[in-house]
Amino acid sequence: MTTALITGSTAGIGAAFARRLAAQGHNLVLVARDTKRLGEQATELHDRHGIEAEVLAADLSTEEGIAAVERRLDDRTHPVDLLVNNAGFGNKGRYLEVSMADELTMLKVHIEAVLRLTSAATASMRSRGRGGVINVASVAAFVPRGTYGASKAWVVQFTQGAARDLGGSGVRLMALCPGFVRTEFHERAGMGTDNIPSWMWLDADKLVASALDDLARGKTVSIPDPRYKALMGLVKLTPRGLLGGVSSRTGRKYGPQ
Ligand SMILES: NC(=O)c1ccc[n+]([C@@H]2O[C@H](COP(=O)([O-])OP(=O)(O)OC[C@H]3O[C@@H](n4cnc5c(N)ncnc54)[C@H](OP(=O)(O)O)[C@@H]3O)[C@@H](O)[C@H]2O)c1
Repeated sequence: MTTALITGSTAGIGAAFARRLAAQGHNLVLVARDTKRLGEQATELHDRHGIEAEVLAADLSTEEGIAAVERRLDDRTHPVDLLVNNAGFGNKGRYLEVSMADELTMLKVHIEAVLRLTSAATASMRSRGRGGVINVASVAAFVPRGTYGASKAWVVQFTQGAARDLGGSGVRLMALCPGFVRTEFHERAGMGTDNIPSWMWLDADKLVASALDDLARGKTVSIPDPRYKALMGLVKLTPRGLLGGVSSRTGRKYGPQ
């Protein structure tokens, strides 16, 4: 039996990964901050699918939280075969409306944690000659959208580069770039979603199914869903200035439009 470690497992996309991987018979290490919610999720997945679900409460915006997950990934007696770096969040507001502390917290969770956990996981996976890492980015990586988009652009670039460097090692890396998915994300970030057309919303379970297929196929960047594949094709042809205006308004009901 293989083991998958998922950060941000208790809600949204992370919870969809946990459901699907448990249904496929993988043991899980569930990582998030809310201990009660983690415990309930572990019990439910164990009871429903008969898998082992371990709980690791950690705040990935802190040194001790990142170090605790690194230690788990480094445990060669209970190896992790698949790491899903999924934990993430949005800040409310545009650049200069967001406090410097909140910007830096985002960089810690979206960049430092992803870098350190990918490195810890792949070191152990390389010694076994197999394993996989999915780093959850966003289509926001391809448009100008403040620190959020910039941090996700880092995730895509880093993952593609690392995947190339690890070529031939048996370890696969893939950046997953979802469009809008109905999760707790937007409410937590205080984002308005009224101006997002209904066709732009993706289902988390379908997204995860296609992400896992793409990983199996050896893709290094996954943009699930034909709608977003087409949209990202258009984005490449659109002038950056125009793109910045549209991107900065989408999902933001507050502040000057
Ligand atoms: N939803 C979208 O439209 C969308 C689109 C593109 C990309 N994404 C990306 O997808 C990923 C998952 O987002 P989601 O929409 O599923 O969000 P969500 O529903 O809000 O879930 C976020 C998960 O991350 C955990 N988390 C948040 N901050 C954490 C921290 N500091 N340390 C550890 N765990 C933390 C949360 O649990 P606790 O609060 O208990 O820690 C929760 O389990 C994020 O990286 C996001 O940027 C989302």
